[in-house]
Amino acid sequence: VDAPIGIMNMKTYLWQEGSGGIDKAISDFTAGEDVILDRHLFEFDIDATAAHVRGLERIGIVSAEECSVLCSLLDELKAEFRAGSFVLDDRFEDGHSAIEMYLTEKAGPAGGRVHTGRSRNDQVAVATRLYMKDRIHELTAACAGIAESCLAKAEAFPDLPMPGYTHLQRAVPSSSGLWLAAFAEAFTDSLSYAAAVGEIVDCSPLGTAAGYGVNLPLDRDGVAADLGFGRLQVNPMYAQNSRGKFEGMVLQAALHAMQDLRRLAWDLSLFTTSEFGFIQLPPEYITGSSIMPNKFNPDVVELLRGRVATPEAAILEIQSVLSLPSGYQRDLQLTKAPLIRGVEASLQALRIVPALVNGMEFKPGRMREAISADMYATDIALEQSAAGVPFREAYLQAKQKLDELEAPDADASLAQRVSPGGCADLLLDRIRARLEKEKSRIPAA
Ligand code: ARG
Repeated sequence: VDAPIGIMNMKTYLWQEGSGGIDKAISDFTAGEDVILDRHLFEFDIDATAAHVRGLERIGIVSAEECSVLCSLLDELKAEFRAGSFVLDDRFEDGHSAIEMYLTEKAGPAGGRVHTGRSRNDQVAVATRLYMKDRIHELTAACAGIAESCLAKAEAFPDLPMPGYTHLQRAVPSSSGLWLAAFAEAFTDSLSYAAAVGEIVDCSPLGTAAGYGVNLPLDRDGVAADLGFGRLQVNPMYAQNSRGKFEGMVLQAALHAMQDLRRLAWDLSLFTTSEFGFIQLPPEYITGSSIMPNKFNPDVVELLRGRVATPEAAILEIQSVLSLPSGYQRDLQLTKAPLIRGVEASLQALRIVPALVNGMEFKPGRMREAISADMYATDIALEQSAAGVPFREAYLQAKQKLDELEAPDADASLAQRVSPGGCADLLLDRIRARLEKEKSRIPAA
């Protein structure tokens, strides 16, 4: 990495001129990990800065030439950042300062015009907003991918008999298709939820400055459209008040998907034990033990299950920070770490699930063996009811004969479970139609 030059060689603050000295312990405390977290926001901050500059050009504050110089410098900065030759580190108070210092150093006075009509308050808000939109795209796509893999597997294995449990006790006969389709429908809902959150956060806070607007006719709508926002976040103070609130919504969307995943992972960790033995995981999802030569452990599935803690804790952390009056408060900076941590951890987990679902194998013999004769008692009572016996009476009769029950052929019995959505009528086509419809809500990348 080239040694940084000029003003970028030492820690400098945009607002330092005319202020007193800066104590290191204090600056470490206020900037903290913030500038490092800004690496996640940096490219979005650069894009938003370019859009702001183009907006300033449209109202005559920046000349056409300055605009083109600044925008190419911003492109260069982005390329250098991607290549690793520009490192965002604690030489800077934050990513926002780094951008302005870079432009000033390279373009002189034109760089000094960039912050006209802008505050770091709306700058961080817009960068975070673009980050959230990008991750909502990823989240909805991940949910769609998991729903798709579960549905495709249900279509491929619709009718392997499998026990259905309530209270974790054997309850009634069920099937591979019914179990898988549950997750296809769940992840479709989580996709839908995330898409709805995506619509709420799809608004531009840029041009609200410190939270109260400015005495310049900023082209806020033009800048919002330039950045691909669906609408303007109109009220300047709300642009600040919604910080943390929107972050919480995005994390909530991640949490819903992660809770679906936790259930799937829980089922898999049970169904792959010797005791159940219904499912075999693909080899790359299994690890060994450092001491016990006989062990094949489902570590991946367990970490998928445990990972839900990260977005859940992140939501709590943000909610604790949000007890605030209106307007920008520096406390809001503390919503950044939990947002990034919670979202990145969730996406990392969700992305590996489709291959897991595709690769897992049912063990039909073990599933069939686990359906005991007593599990047909409800069917027998209902058969009697259909023949006219009041259900309560049929229930009692079946209960008295529990020990004498003989298991019918499992396949034939599944074929009779015709209630819509049940084993004989999984309505996978309806689940697929809805998934296709919800997929059209995945926002553009
Ligand atoms: N790092 C700060 C944050 O995340 C940037 C905004 C600073 N604004 C200010 N008025 N000090 O909130």
